[in-house]
Amino acid sequence: MAATLIDGKAFAGKVRGQVAEHVARLKEEHGITPGLAVVLVGEDPASQVYVRSKGKQTVEVGMNSYEHKLEADTPEADLLALIDQLNNDPAVNGILVQLPLPKHMNEELVINSIAPEKDVDGFHISNVGLLGTGQKSMVPCTPLGCLMMLRDHHGSLSGMDAVVIGRSNIVGKPMAQLLLGDSCTVTIAHSRTKDLPDVVRRADIVVAAVGRPEMVPGDWIKEGATVIDVGINRIERDGKNVLVGDVDFASAAERAGAITPVPGGVGPMTIACLLANTVTACCRAHNLAEPEGLTA
Ligand code: GUN
Repeated sequence: MAATLIDGKAFAGKVRGQVAEHVARLKEEHGITPGLAVVLVGEDPASQVYVRSKGKQTVEVGMNSYEHKLEADTPEADLLALIDQLNNDPAVNGILVQLPLPKHMNEELVINSIAPEKDVDGFHISNVGLLGTGQKSMVPCTPLGCLMMLRDHHGSLSGMDAVVIGRSNIVGKPMAQLLLGDSCTVTIAHSRTKDLPDVVRRADIVVAAVGRPEMVPGDWIKEGATVIDVGINRIERDGKNVLVGDVDFASAAERAGAITPVPGGVGPMTIACLLANTVTACCRAHNLAEPEGLTA
């Protein structure tokens, strides 16, 4: 394998360490403990695993974790009332409502009822607008994690050609905004893009976020390019369940200069960035200096 492996698991550990240091300083110097509230509606098994992991890691870095579990048939008005209560609770600096929500709930309405300064997912329409206009905002966790890894590997990204494959609101669009903010020339490619292989072959940076197992083959990758694989796809191979990304890792690693593996690449960075966003939100709420290197 020619490419350098970008170890997201190790990097996420480093980010959590920085968060923990900042949390310790907030406690010692200001008597403040940041708090993250996570709301889960219903019993989706994958969501339960995520929420448990978020709560555990929140406590591990020294922050307060507030978990709210609501029945799947909870009326939307009750969820909105809980969010209102959390919006007004000074001990809560970050609020995350785990998605997807049950079908009877309007996700947009729910997300936009979170106070923007506590929206640690960065999904509120105000944060989307602030990011799009280059203003201080809460930045979605997965693209923030990708940006941190790219900055760590390259230093400056200025002038690089970046292709983001996928146009979701959660990853593709905010990723493109962040790369633009770091002065990349950005192309957003998607299922209707013409000559996708040629578009990808021009890129110094490829971020794949489509959710299709191994759809990017190695021969689309420019020699020496950096490949960030956001995909986490469960497939059956040789009779076993395995996780693969959106990029064919083996062939891409032959050509890339650096590449993230799946698992152990982007995945662990998402919760680390959630913790980073919570400490950032806490500092902003108290007019204190933000932690360096943990924001966009
Ligand atoms: N469900 C899966 N990923 C996420 C995420 O990043 N945030 C929220 N709120 N829900 C999710």
